[in-house]
Amino acid sequence: MEKKTYNVAVVGASGAVGEELFRVLDEVSFPVGSILPLASARSVGEEVECQGKSYKIEELTEDVFQGKEIDIAFFSAGGSISEKYAQYAVDAGAVVIDNTSHFRMDTDVPLVVPEVNPEDIEWWEERGIIANPNCSTIQMVQLLKPLHDLYGITRVDVSTYQAVSGAGKEGMEELVRQMQDFFAFKLSESECKAFTHQIALNVIPHIDVPQENGYTKEEMKMVNETAKIMGTEFPLSATCVRVPVLRSHSEAITIHFTEGVHVDVEKSREVLDAFENVTVIDDMSKNEYPMPIISTDTDETYVGRIRKDIYADNILHIWGVADQVRVGAATNAVRIAQKWIKLKENA
Ligand code: A2P
Repeated sequence: MEKKTYNVAVVGASGAVGEELFRVLDEVSFPVGSILPLASARSVGEEVECQGKSYKIEELTEDVFQGKEIDIAFFSAGGSISEKYAQYAVDAGAVVIDNTSHFRMDTDVPLVVPEVNPEDIEWWEERGIIANPNCSTIQMVQLLKPLHDLYGITRVDVSTYQAVSGAGKEGMEELVRQMQDFFAFKLSESECKAFTHQIALNVIPHIDVPQENGYTKEEMKMVNETAKIMGTEFPLSATCVRVPVLRSHSEAITIHFTEGVHVDVEKSREVLDAFENVTVIDDMSKNEYPMPIISTDTDETYVGRIRKDIYADNILHIWGVADQVRVGAATNAVRIAQKWIKLKENA
């Protein structure tokens, strides 16, 4: 008989995304059998709570998955950890839902945003791994998909305003510490570890490793992952910028549609608002538009400032905002797991 509850491992249980995963599993009443929270030796013995029960963090080792009958293993401890340990979870019988960039572009690993390409989960068995896309990519493709279906996208240009949570707990703590140092008149002595420069009262046009083509790895993730998720080949250019916001990313997106299309702003609003997990906030007469203070701690992707280009009829400009830790990581991973369960139970 088909199992009705699922044993879940969380690798990176003490991290920003790991902690959020427990909250999301709780909120969606995920059919949890048991939880195996894993982190480095530093966190062993710390307690995590999920669905009213507490569990002690264990150390991630090569054989920790053995004999535990784990069904789903969420990995969120960095690419090198996924590279080294994901296969052990798969060998022990789990599906790995990986939040790092390590497997994303492998042709035998589905890269999934459940609202956009849920059908790709069907080939999860090729490797036993499903990849969770980059946070900036997830919230962007949720907005591109309904507009692509409506008008056919031919090019996208995006500038991001990315929160410090993208650099994990260390990034969030660094912003808070630097702000405290600012008010203590010692910002100039404050340590810059998580980012290349001071992030408090600053913006940094540099996220992830610089590439030979002049872009950064984060920018190229947006280019390559969008094509894989949407199955499209339109050109996309990204400028990724770190801003002193705690945990929601914002994006200014310019979308070019097929030559000859006359964009209807009202119709665009309608299809965006009707799309699963997308909410339109767009009334300039009342100063209403998406902002990080609205999206933080929610599972929605918000869009506003929807307006036609001044010069061309087939170009639309929009502004999207979503919680990076949730929509960009934990919630997307849990939504993948929910779809995976449905697939298994209908098999
Ligand atoms: P730990 O807290 O024990 O170092 P964040 O993205 O917020 O920085 O979190 C990173 C997560 O990855 C943490 O849970 C961290 O655990 C975990 N992690 C980092 N290095 C390792 C490792 N070598 N083995 C297992 N987990 C690790």
